[in-house]
Amino acid sequence: MPAIPNGVRGAVVTGWGSALPPKIITNHDLEQTLDTSHDWIVERTGIHQRHVGGTTVGLSVEAGRRALEMSGVDPKAIDALVLATTTPDRCVPASSATVQHELGLRCGAYDVNAACSGFVYALVQGHGMIAMGAKKVLVIGTDTLARITDWDDRNTAVLFADGSGAVVLEAVEGQGQLLGWDLDADGAAERFLYSEIGGFIQMDGKEVFRRAVRIMVDSGTKSMAHAGVTADDIALVVPHQANVRIIQAACERLGVPIEKAAMVLDRTGNTSSASIPLALADALDAGRVKHGDLVLLVGFGAGMTAASALLRWGGDADSPVLA
Ligand code: ACO
Repeated sequence: MPAIPNGVRGAVVTGWGSALPPKIITNHDLEQTLDTSHDWIVERTGIHQRHVGGTTVGLSVEAGRRALEMSGVDPKAIDALVLATTTPDRCVPASSATVQHELGLRCGAYDVNAACSGFVYALVQGHGMIAMGAKKVLVIGTDTLARITDWDDRNTAVLFADGSGAVVLEAVEGQGQLLGWDLDADGAAERFLYSEIGGFIQMDGKEVFRRAVRIMVDSGTKSMAHAGVTADDIALVVPHQANVRIIQAACERLGVPIEKAAMVLDRTGNTSSASIPLALADALDAGRVKHGDLVLLVGFGAGMTAASALLRWGGDADSPVLA
């Protein structure tokens, strides 16, 4: 993907929000029904507990409302809603249509399915719409994987969960926050991770693990190159929250210390499209990002997709939000 041309209208995040269903399933809960153990799950994945329940629409509305409130943007002023999800509540209409109505938006709305890379795909599209004249875009990543997880299958039940994260993007004068991006997919690898309609997730964990590290490093390296920055410049990496060992291996190969990675996996499990915005919101709420910091979002997922975006948090110092 080429570097972003000069003169393109940029955007910054002005609000964010997240939502997790109240029901928590711990590893000890899973020990009661599966041939597994808390220690095995922690050692092999880093996960201690996960939230399950709710609908894709319900969680999206909750996270989206929080992001809108933080930004102070009137819902009627949003120009587009992009909802990344691989688990829509129905085939038709798109879940984003219901979310649009429930949030009181008056704009186009559509779903994006790029599995766990979905939020970054949607974020790049949001920037693209702003480059073409939109002023305010709501981007949400939500998944309710519990509904397509076989809770009797220890290969997958220990990993997947539900959640949502959202950001409001607003147009600014000047370049904005997006300095580089990369989107990728390899349909030839789809057999390693898939779910038929009405079925459960099927996964070759070892193969997914191997490919995940490779494609995250490849995508993250491309975004850094497009932005003209190196790993030493990165203040925070927000990786897809699938497995702490994948995150460690990817950070090591990218040349970014693991201490610079945002991490919610221990509390949330793998929430697919929601995982990057949940981890980003957590890092922002904890005050880990300051104006001007370079933030690398990088994900991978079924497809097998990969996506990354290199952001300069807050954009240029002299980039006021366009009214
Ligand atoms: N509890 C206890 N033991 C288990 C479990 C379990 N839940 N699952 C497997 N085992 C056993 C295996 O049977 C095996 O036993 P053996 O040595 O006697 O044969 C042993 O543990 C090791 O199994 P491995 O499969 O080699 O374990 P591994 O270290 O590869 O970890 C895991 C498995 C966690 C699934 C890992 O491969 C992984 O995280 N892969 C990536 C998965 C992923 O990220 N998927 C999401 C992609 S994103 C999206 O689009 C949704």
